[in-house]
Amino acid sequence: KIEKKIDSVLKLMTLDEKIGQLNQYNGGDATGPITNNASKAKEIRDGKVGAILNIKGAKETRAMQQVAMQSRMKIPLLFGLDVIHGYRVTFPIPLAEAASWDLGSIENAARVAGRETASSGVHWTFAPMVDIARDPRWGRVMEGAGEDTYLGSKIAFARVKGFQGKGLGNLDAVMACVKHFAAYGAAIAGRDYAAVDMSEHTLWEVYLPPFKAALDAGAGTFMNSFNTLNGIPATGNAYLQRDILKGKWKFNGFVVSDWGSIGEMIEHGFAKDKKQAAELAIKAGSDMDMESLSYLPNLAKLVAEKKVPVAVIDDAVRRILRKKFELGLFDDPYRFSNEARQEKELNSPENRKASLQMAEKSIVLLKNNNQVLPLSKNLKKIAVIGPLGKSEKDMQGFWSIAWENDQLVSLYQGLKNKVGDKTELLYAKGCGISDTSKAGFAEALAVAKQADVIVMAVGETLDMSGEAKSKTNIHMPGVQEDLIKAMQATGKPVVVLVMAGRPLIFNWTADNVPAIMYTWWLGSEAGNAMANVLFGDYNPAGKLPMTFPRDEGQIPLYYNYLSTGRPAKNDEETVYRSGYLDSPNSPKFAFGYGLSYTTFEYSNLKLSATQLKMDGKIEVSFTLKNTGKYDGEEVAQLYLQDKFASVVRPVKELKDFRKVFLKAGESKKITFLIDKDKLSFYNQQLKWAAEAGDFKLLIGTASNNIKLEQDFVLVE
Ligand code: IFM
Repeated sequence: KIEKKIDSVLKLMTLDEKIGQLNQYNGGDATGPITNNASKAKEIRDGKVGAILNIKGAKETRAMQQVAMQSRMKIPLLFGLDVIHGYRVTFPIPLAEAASWDLGSIENAARVAGRETASSGVHWTFAPMVDIARDPRWGRVMEGAGEDTYLGSKIAFARVKGFQGKGLGNLDAVMACVKHFAAYGAAIAGRDYAAVDMSEHTLWEVYLPPFKAALDAGAGTFMNSFNTLNGIPATGNAYLQRDILKGKWKFNGFVVSDWGSIGEMIEHGFAKDKKQAAELAIKAGSDMDMESLSYLPNLAKLVAEKKVPVAVIDDAVRRILRKKFELGLFDDPYRFSNEARQEKELNSPENRKASLQMAEKSIVLLKNNNQVLPLSKNLKKIAVIGPLGKSEKDMQGFWSIAWENDQLVSLYQGLKNKVGDKTELLYAKGCGISDTSKAGFAEALAVAKQADVIVMAVGETLDMSGEAKSKTNIHMPGVQEDLIKAMQATGKPVVVLVMAGRPLIFNWTADNVPAIMYTWWLGSEAGNAMANVLFGDYNPAGKLPMTFPRDEGQIPLYYNYLSTGRPAKNDEETVYRSGYLDSPNSPKFAFGYGLSYTTFEYSNLKLSATQLKMDGKIEVSFTLKNTGKYDGEEVAQLYLQDKFASVVRPVKELKDFRKVFLKAGESKKITFLIDKDKLSFYNQQLKWAAEAGDFKLLIGTASNNIKLEQDFVLVE
């Protein structure tokens, strides 16, 4: 039905109006370099604009839509925005949410963001980012789900479901845009926008699956990426966009370029000028031009010169109109711009509660020697020390949408909310994030000495991880670790909270401080969430979605590396072995690692068979017991190792996990199913297939802490 409607609209459109639909302009705070000064209102009225990005608010979107309704064809505008981790209520950064391994909560976080966004007239979010990232020097690791393809694919699916709710057209659904297609996370040396050079095999096996998962969840749009992939810019890459996405995967939505990326093919040295860039991009399947102003002035000429067939333009326009129809914008272009709905929806107590719960689940307890945590509720004095102790703004993290009167809860405020007047809260900043001076240490020491416990807030400010925030040095910035040393020297119990957008290196702290929590940037309710965890009102259960290296020299470091013929023995012996003279191979904190206030025991592994037929299944079961004093959740992780195959396989791969709540003392039987698909991989012909042979099943609490294992075979 929609296709007929599109036909009838297309028939009435001039070529210029069609090309207008392919043009997207920035309409608010820029999220890239401004390259054009077009008079937007006039061009919208002239039918030269199909979408606007960076606009928000029911009133503002309505006003802009009114301008579009003055154009000849009255085709509604699409409004897009980077709703990456929350709209009005900020949620933890995506990497933090991934640490929850809690797919239901992640979907719900996107649901809340989707509802808030849609109530405010915005139709389209440039999320989720599903780029696998194995290099913490890359600042955009904060925006994805980390290093693992399996976890990343599950999260990609959950996020799209959350944003799009019951489907496009519902008034609480925002259209997802899966990005960045493709392989942007593998920028050489972790330098943003740098080239990507990778094997087809790695592309298919590691980097593409989360995109496919997002598509399977129904994602309406894709964004391509700034990088080149094996020498071809993703924006001009017909293999990615036409052969894979629109061909093999049958994607019927549209692809938007990244900001300016069509024009940037000139800088890449791939196109001579914007005209050629436009030709290459449209032919390669980039349907909409975000802010590079390449399509608008050039496509009509390219059609006249017979360099671009009208059918190619029609296909791109059809894809865009399809989404506008699905969103119901042709029935009522203002249907999402509703001030009353917006007023009710934004920052509601329910939405803040969802953010608080997500934040609690995102915290990873890295260390808790001598059960320093949870803190007693009868402490007389707590010293909050560190540059982020009273910070509100940084709790938002990069890629959050700025609002006046943002209600963000700092650690200090969260603790105050928790302890009221019962416990005295002392505070000293100690130093700034990047300070090289220790001038503030004396005051911090004087404050800390009066307290029963020292809670430290250190890490990064919100502008230190994100787009174009690559770093060669990911050690804890400035003199913050010296401040930690000074606090530790007081002999008081020290708890360090690291607030950051990427894995940081803090080896001295990790080796010497008894209690460490990685809190990332947790969003609107950050302080309340941290206080709940510190006092044990929420028992932490987060697990790292990315490996934490000991040293930048180990990067890229990830748990599922391909095996070598000369593995280092015991992480130490490196003579003629694959290792370093000056560092172990192992990370400081491994993928999947995270503690709880309670302890868990894994036992009683049973396999329904140790021989699996190609069309069969093995049921795996084991007993998980909470052996500690606190109720808590554990993320039980299932890894598989393919012992030999026609393509060398990773040493282990995550293939399933279960997040389980157990009361203190409680046991549960946990089951997993193994079938051919879990054992398949891309073979030498790049076909997804399983090969008969020997496998190992590993079940554990972290990628480097396996509790149960068993060999089995796959037979023809
Ligand atoms: O969505 C973003 C993208 O991830 C990076 N460049 C700008 C786009 C729009 O803001």
